[in-house]
Amino acid sequence: MKTGRKAGIVSTGKALPVCRLTNRELEYIVETSDEWITSRSGIKERRIISGTETNSSLSEIAARIALERAALKPEEIDILIVATVTADQLLPSSACLVQARLNAHRAAAFDLAAGCTGFLYGLTVGQQFIETGAAKNILLIGVDTLSPIVDWTDRNTCVLFGDGAGAVVLQQVEEGRGILASKMFSDGTKAELLDIPAGGSRRPPTLKTLEERAHYVKMNGPEIFKFAVKIMVESTTNVLNMCGKKPADISYIAPHQANIRIIDSACKRLGLNDEQVLTNIHRYGNMSSAAIPVLLDEAFEAGKLKQGDLLALVSFGAGLTWGAAALNW
Ligand code: ACO
Repeated sequence: MKTGRKAGIVSTGKALPVCRLTNRELEYIVETSDEWITSRSGIKERRIISGTETNSSLSEIAARIALERAALKPEEIDILIVATVTADQLLPSSACLVQARLNAHRAAAFDLAAGCTGFLYGLTVGQQFIETGAAKNILLIGVDTLSPIVDWTDRNTCVLFGDGAGAVVLQQVEEGRGILASKMFSDGTKAELLDIPAGGSRRPPTLKTLEERAHYVKMNGPEIFKFAVKIMVESTTNVLNMCGKKPADISYIAPHQANIRIIDSACKRLGLNDEQVLTNIHRYGNMSSAAIPVLLDEAFEAGKLKQGDLLALVSFGAGLTWGAAALNW
């Protein structure tokens, strides 16, 4: 439905755990080295929740910053979407816990599980509510706290992930700004490439599942690597085509932060130069749904984002899911 309304991001916020875990420290936990992690992934350190920090507490902090910057009160939020795969509890949703923390008493609240593509899925879902006129103010949070569910005895996975939250406010924006194009994809036939085998309703927790360490993230890294480079290039090209743009027109690309080699390879194939590419993986590792909103918030805080800048956002993750969006800041 074409209504003439345009949805856009009007503010950002972020929250990162206090505790830093460096590659050097990881050398004491699993058989690895700073050299291996840096050269194979680009990661130097990551943030890990501790004490009272949780998925919903990080979300609340990120949300309050984004709300303040949008001059919006919590009670003005119509819809609160939390893109995450690591809610505080299986039930209820993280979104409801965040809704309570904020006292956003008018808001509908729900979680959106699309792996690391969650933020982009949430952006596209939120866009529909704004552009149809069904909602005015949407709070979208991309948050993941993977550290409690990675296997700290498995060097193939535990060195790669970190915790964090990013939030944005979506509203109707003036002509020439906002989301120009977005497209989401999935392929559930590749679900086993990145999963947590037990703990859901099919294999609830038992002593056996605990002994098998089946409640932790399992990943086929090399297969995801190949897939990721291909779809990052295809998805970005696709959304740019949808709005009549090309890679050279992009002010910045905010790609999912899973591996610097994936980012470098995809951006090289797109013909982008280093100045066009936003990265923070060296400081935070892979924060799943938080990666892109935290990148945006850092770019905003650094004064990089100017009104009218063309941004491309692209991500991939468990599911498998992937997608991209193009927007004018
Ligand atoms: N330290 C030292 N050695 C390690 C480590 C480590 N932390 N991890 C693996 N290795 C070893 C393996 O045991 C293996 O050794 P072997 O050859 O003797 O068996 C070797 O390193 C693996 O080498 P490669 O397969 O060549 O490693 P690769 O270059 O593929 O890098 C990596 C592995 C980093 C996992 C990479 O494949 C990757 O980043 N894949 C994508 C992962 C990803 O994007 N995941 C998230 C997607 S969705 C989401 O974001 C939630």
